[in-house]
Amino acid sequence: MHISQTLKTVEFPSFIFNASGPRCTTQGELLKIAGSSAGGITMKSCSPEARQWNPEPRYIEVDMWSINSMGLPNHGYKKYLEYAAEIKKQFPNKPIIASIVWFCPEDFFLLIKAFQEDKNVDVLEVNLSCPNVVGKPQIAYDFETTDELLQQIFALGITKPIGFKLPPYFDPVHTEMMANILKKYPVDFITCINSVGNTLIIDPETEQPLIAPKWGLGGLWGDYVKPVALANVRMFYKMIWDKTKIIWCGWIKNGIDVFEHLLAGASLVQLGTVFGKEDTDCFERIESEFIEYASSKGYSDISEIIWNLKEL
Ligand code: SIN
Repeated sequence: MHISQTLKTVEFPSFIFNASGPRCTTQGELLKIAGSSAGGITMKSCSPEARQWNPEPRYIEVDMWSINSMGLPNHGYKKYLEYAAEIKKQFPNKPIIASIVWFCPEDFFLLIKAFQEDKNVDVLEVNLSCPNVVGKPQIAYDFETTDELLQQIFALGITKPIGFKLPPYFDPVHTEMMANILKKYPVDFITCINSVGNTLIIDPETEQPLIAPKWGLGGLWGDYVKPVALANVRMFYKMIWDKTKIIWCGWIKNGIDVFEHLLAGASLVQLGTVFGKEDTDCFERIESEFIEYASSKGYSDISEIIWNLKEL
């Protein structure tokens, strides 16, 4: 089975790798991903200065769902430039994705430039969708600001593959509004979706929310989020397939989930919750489950599956 993929000129030996989420904050964690069968290494979304975790409890997971409010903990972008240098030294053939978060324009452009100029980072992912910072909106729900931001980013003369991590949209009209903005710029990929933001789960026994930050509100993943992710991938692919690849980031438990997202239009796949739970073994397990399932259906290349969903 042919499972390699490209983003612009950057080659991924496998289309499955990690999401900016669990287990990608420290240099040790990143080197472990690089040494596994993951096709690339996404570093934790970073800000100009280091950030601490939100207060505990901030993450609860059961079989069918998880809720989180981590708060974008990271070591600050300078550390991720150092980590990228060490990863590249040891694993020169694995692409490194820097995930950059927007807090205020000046800081943000400083980070974009730093990763654009760095010789070790291969791909830029701009996170416009974190729901877990008190007082900061999910930028990609504000269409006008997103449009202005993209205009300013591309005015910097970006040459590396660049993409934007988006929140879920729940109405095709909104998906289309965002697609129309993306189409105006040379966007290489979008990562969709981030968690369903600002949800509340209550424990009736204790009469409290399950997590502490932000009045109990957090990002939801789960079995019922997967159809939302599939719909976003399908709608975006339909609108921007000719210019922009889609990285699916969602609730992935097995290789058949991956198969379904390729059918909906995803070209690459990021693992989050399952990676947090199983550590790097999940990359090999999910890849081999996917290959077994796709081969049993007669496919020999992921390009034959992408957007091959049959109409009813
Ligand atoms: C977090 O660190 O709170 C999650 C990151 C995200 O949702 O982008």
